[in-house]
This record gives sequence, structure tokens and C-alpha cells, in this order.
Amino acid sequence: MSSQINFGYPWWLSYGHLVVLAIALLFWLLGRRRKWSRVLMLLIGAVTLWSAAAFFVTRFGLDVNGRLALPTQAFLTSGAGRVLDMGAGTGRSTLMVLEARPQTTVVALDLFAESYKQHFGAEQSGQERLLSNLKAAGVEQHASIQAGDMRKLPFEPATFDGVVSTYAIDHLDREGINTALGEAARVLKPGGQFLMMVITKDSWLKFTFGPLLLHSGTASAAWWTSRLQEAGLQVIEQGTRPATLYILARKP
Ligand SMILES: C[S@@+](CC[C@H](N)C(=O)[O-])C[C@H]1O[C@@H](n2cnc3c(N)ncnc32)[C@H](O)[C@@H]1O
Repeated sequence: MSSQINFGYPWWLSYGHLVVLAIALLFWLLGRRRKWSRVLMLLIGAVTLWSAAAFFVTRFGLDVNGRLALPTQAFLTSGAGRVLDMGAGTGRSTLMVLEARPQTTVVALDLFAESYKQHFGAEQSGQERLLSNLKAAGVEQHASIQAGDMRKLPFEPATFDGVVSTYAIDHLDREGINTALGEAARVLKPGGQFLMMVITKDSWLKFTFGPLLLHSGTASAAWWTSRLQEAGLQVIEQGTRPATLYILARKP
């Protein structure tokens, strides 16, 4: 069943370092044959080692096309309720919730616009791709798909027991982030929880991608905490996962 799931992140995020590795290896072999200088060979050797290590880190550590694990068991301990996924993309975060909390129902919301196409291409419509992943995981009965902007959520106040957003809110500009966090707080019921996961300042990322993937300038945990508090949410837990900062907050 899960073999049909395709989260659709571009191949180079998982395998791009292999291309660098192949080229570096070719140069290393050529250099040995032609007896290039020691300094040049050391440099080529360093690139070879870096690309091999970076490949293992990205493919097996970040694993962007793999399943996403709930970073904290404190999210929706009741195991039930209505959850909103803000910026659901191809369904990785929706499946994360539904697999860890199978008694919930999830509204998978995405703008399905430019940012979606940049991440996942334009061959298939966003809704179609998301639905096909939900079906492949056998959870489509527990989810609905909604096109919409997380900065102007099409829901009444106090509609959801939980809101999640993974690697999505950090694609907005600073004003958009504040607006979206305010919207998350508005649609949460009192006592409801907001689980946010964003790309963070992480040595894994610096090692593998250098300056690429710096969403929102990878703001600090303290910065995100202040934004959540300004939106009226109380931070109850925070932590890190590879390349990820997660914060669990609660609406008082
Ligand atoms: C990197 S993807 C993350 C998708 C998914 N949550 C995951 O973890 O794989 C970011 C998603 O945010 C969506 N997005 C960006 N701006 C948005 C907005 N203002 N409202 C709703 N979705 C938005 C994009 O369309 C894209 O699907």
C-alpha cells in the first residue's frame, strides 16, 4: 500500500550529492593517472569524502521523501479530534498526524499555487496528488482536502482541536508568518494545540547544503517562541530533529 506513496520532493534533495561524488571520483582517478599535485589531490579527496557523507546524511537522515514522525507524543494525547494541516503539500504532514493519531480527522489545506509548484512540479494537480497519497495510505476517509491560504483561513473561530504546520509556515515572509500564526490561534479551540515544525539552523543542513534551504533565514527558537506568544499561544514544549525545530504550543 505505502509503496504507491510519492511525496514528490525533487530527486536532487535526496540524490544530488551522488552526482558530485561521481564527478569528484572521476577527477580523483584522472588525477592519480596524470600525477596531479598533492594539494589538488587532497582537495579532490576532500570533496569526494564530503559528497559521500552528505549523501548519507540527506538520504537517510533528512529523508525528505520518507514518512515524517510525530516529534512529540504530547501532541493530542486524547488521540482524537479535528486537526488542520496548514500547508499540507503532498500529504507528508497529514499522514504524520493520521498515522500517529488514527482517531483524528484532518483537513489538509494548501494554497496549491506557486510555492507548491516550486516544490513538487506542475505535472499533476496538487489536490490529485495529495488525494492519491491519502488513498495509498488508506486514510482518505479520515481526511479532506481544502484549497486555501493559511494567512486567511476559511474556517470559523474555535473549529479545531489541533493545528499542525510542517516546513510550510517558514516559506512565508515575516508579516505572513505573524498573520498565519494569528489565524492558527483563531481557529483553535481553547485548550487546542499547535504543532509547528520548521527548517532550523542545524549543522547537518550547513554541512550538506551550505546556504541552500534557508527558509525564513532559519530564525532561532527564541524568535519563533516570541511570534507564537504574540499570537496568543503558550509554548509547552520545544525540541529539535535533524534539520528541524519543533514547537508545541497551546491556546489558553
Ligand atoms: C515544503 S512544502 C511542505 C509540505 C508538507 N507540509 C511537508 O511537510 O512535506 C510547503 C507547502 O506550503 C504551501 N504553502 C505555501 N504558502 C502557503 C499559504 N500561504 N497557504 C497555504 N499553503 C501554503 C506550499 O504550497 C507547499 O505545499
